[in-house]
Amino acid sequence: MSFTEQFSRDKEQIEAALENVFRGRPPHADIYDAMNYSLLAGGKRIRPILTLAACRLCGGETETALPFACAVEMIHTYSLIHDDLPCMDDDELRRGRPTNHTVYGEATAVLAGDGLLTAAFEVALTGSTIDPRRAIKALANLAYAAGAAGMVGGQALDMAGEGRALTVEDVEELQQLKTGALMTAAAEMGAIVAGATEEQRMALRKYTQKLGLAFQIRDDMLDVTGNVEEMGKTSGSDAKGEKTTFVTLKGLTECGRMVEALTREAEEALTGFEDPSYLIELAHMLVGRTN
Ligand code: IPE
Ligand code: IPE
Ligand code: MG
Ligand code: MG
Ligand code: MG
Repeated sequence: MSFTEQFSRDKEQIEAALENVFRGRPPHADIYDAMNYSLLAGGKRIRPILTLAACRLCGGETETALPFACAVEMIHTYSLIHDDLPCMDDDELRRGRPTNHTVYGEATAVLAGDGLLTAAFEVALTGSTIDPRRAIKALANLAYAAGAAGMVGGQALDMAGEGRALTVEDVEELQQLKTGALMTAAAEMGAIVAGATEEQRMALRKYTQKLGLAFQIRDDMLDVTGNVEEMGKTSGSDAKGEKTTFVTLKGLTECGRMVEALTREAEEALTGFEDPSYLIELAHMLVGRTN
């Protein structure tokens, strides 16, 4: 199967699973509407795809990784809802739609994020068909990466850095935490589900660290050069928040070079696997992404 065919198949499976997550639950005010509004609004689904692909790369079945893939996408979606709030980046467009708080109000948007974060663990735990010890390991990884040691910590550094001059090292740490940590956990969960060796997990960690950094540098570039319609989110958000990014530190041309170099390094991290072509093509697809 070609990369494109497998990629569309993965996306379809993820979309179908996400559509089912809250189906049939009795409504409580508009909370489920608000959660589904952001969860089912498209999105590239890169993190859940990493979970499925890492699982296959380490010899596992896609289906066994699916509940864990949904969990990481639910946490990612919660992070976007909160990231867009007036007290954070104060943005009005996300995934091609008005942001959650613009439609449902701030209180419901905060709760929609809380609901998605907690449901992520419920969905993975109830949907898991693997050895419970592996499931615990995978979800402990996810919890660590999503929390103050990972994504939340990165967001805290991001907010604390507003209006301040940061060094390259500061920005790299911030980016690794706010974006890299969850991507690393996404692939790591797939590997754990498949029963990967420590060596395989280490190689995947290296791949996602490089990929995550490249992904966030590209995100910072798009914030300056991107087309709002194509991206489905507001551009100029970083300048508005007076953020130091790789673009403000290095300029667009150097950022482009860095994305390419990091992508090559990501690719090299997978040389020990028999057929890493899917993850390599995924990394290449993201280099020139426009959304
Ligand atoms: C946006 O993530 C936030 C970052 C960490 C850069 P994505 O670019 O993956 O957003 P979606 O999921 O496609 O909407
Ligand atoms: C947010 O980074 C990363 C998250 C953890 C949500 P950004 O603030 O740069 O993400 P966008 O550009 O709004 O998608
Ligand atoms: Mg932000
Ligand atoms: Mg933002
Ligand atoms: Mg951004």
